[in-house]
Amino acid sequence: MMKAMELTADKGFFVIEVPKPVPTDTQILVRVKYSAIDTSLQNLLDRDMVASYIHDMKSKPLMAGNHFSGTIEAVGASVAAQKEFTVGDGVFGHLQYAPQTKQGAYSEYVTVEADACALKPSNVSWETAASSTTEAMTALQAMRDKAGLIKGKTVLILGSGGGVGSVAVGIAKSLGASRVTAVCSTRDVDRIQKLGADIVIDRKTQDNWETAAVGKFDVVFDAPTKYGLWQASKWLNPGGGFVNTIPTIFDILLIGWLWGWFTGKIFTTVACASKKADLDLVGEWLLKGSVAVEIDSTHDVSSLEAAMRRQNDPSKSGRVAIKVEGGW
Ligand SMILES: NC(=O)c1ccc[n+]([C@@H]2O[C@H](COP(=O)([O-])OP(=O)(O)OC[C@H]3O[C@@H](n4cnc5c(N)ncnc54)[C@H](OP(=O)(O)O)[C@@H]3O)[C@@H](O)[C@H]2O)c1
Repeated sequence: MMKAMELTADKGFFVIEVPKPVPTDTQILVRVKYSAIDTSLQNLLDRDMVASYIHDMKSKPLMAGNHFSGTIEAVGASVAAQKEFTVGDGVFGHLQYAPQTKQGAYSEYVTVEADACALKPSNVSWETAASSTTEAMTALQAMRDKAGLIKGKTVLILGSGGGVGSVAVGIAKSLGASRVTAVCSTRDVDRIQKLGADIVIDRKTQDNWETAAVGKFDVVFDAPTKYGLWQASKWLNPGGGFVNTIPTIFDILLIGWLWGWFTGKIFTTVACASKKADLDLVGEWLLKGSVAVEIDSTHDVSSLEAAMRRQNDPSKSGRVAIKVEGGW
C-alpha cells in the first residue's frame, strides 16, 4: 500500500491508503520526491469541462498532480533490457493530461512509460526538476512544434509572468529566436528581463503596444489564451504561426484552420505531451542555465490546501512546489 492525496467533491484534500502501482514491461515505478501545482488543479477541484480532458474524473478515489521528480524503485522487463534507466536513478516527468489518467503525483509512487520521463540532471534540485515539466513541455511543443519557431525567428510571448509564459522566454532563446518580446504586468517586468527576454512590454502601462506590435513576429505564443485570431493575425509576419493553450472549437479548430488556409499563416493550439526527448532537452537547458524555473514556495503534500491558496495568490512569483517524500 502507499499514501496518496484524494481530492474530494467538497474541494478538500485527504490522505488515503491505496495499492502501490506495479509497472508493466514498458514502465518504471517512481518513488515521488517532489511535485508542483499547475492551473489544471483548479479545474479538477471545480470538476469543470476542462477537468475531464486532463483526468479520469470518474476514478475513485480522485488523485491529482502531474509533475514529478523522484527515484526509480523498479523497472519493467523491457526497460531493464534497454538499460537506459536503472533502479536508484533520479528522474523527472509529467503524468499525461488525458481522460484516462487515473494516477496523481501527490502520491508516494507513480508508474510511467519509460519514453515519458527523463533522467534528472544531477545538479538540478528535485523541486526545480519537478516544477520544470508540464509548463516547460507545453511552451516547447507550442512554439517549436506547433508554431514553427526555429533559429533566427522573432517571437512574441503573451502572459509571460505565468507558469507557461515565464519558462517560454528561456526556451525561445534556447531554440535560437533572434528576438524574444514578452508581455506581462508591471510587477513581473524585472523577473522577465532576468529570464532573458530581449524586450519586455508592460501591458498595464504601455499604451498602444498592441498597435506597435503589428507585423513584427514570426511566432506569437498566447500562453493564457487571451487574444483572438484577428488580433494575432495582425501581429504575425507572412507565413508566421500563432499558438495558444486552450483549444476552442470555433476559434482555432474551425476559423483558425480556414483562416490559415487563406492567409498562409498557422493558427493552432497545443496539448502538452509527455516525451522523454523533450524532457532531456529541458534538462540540458536547466543544466546550462539557459532556461530557469523560479520556485515561489514549497509546501508539504499534507498542506495542499495552503499550497493551493498560494497558487491562486496574485503576489505569487514562480512555481508552487510540493514536497511529497517526507511531506506526509
Ligand atoms: N494545453 C496544455 O497542455 C496546457 C498545459 C499547461 C497549461 N495550460 C494552460 O495554459 C494557461 C496558462 O497557464 P499558466 O500556468 O501559465 O497560468 P498562470 O500561471 O495563471 O499565468 C497566466 C498569465 O496570464 C497573464 N494574463 C492574464 N490575463 C491576461 C491578458 N488579458 N493578457 C495578457 N496576459 C494575461 C497573467 O498575468 P497578468 O494578468 O499579471 O499579466 C498570468 O501571468 C492556462 O489556461 C492553463 O490551463 C495548457
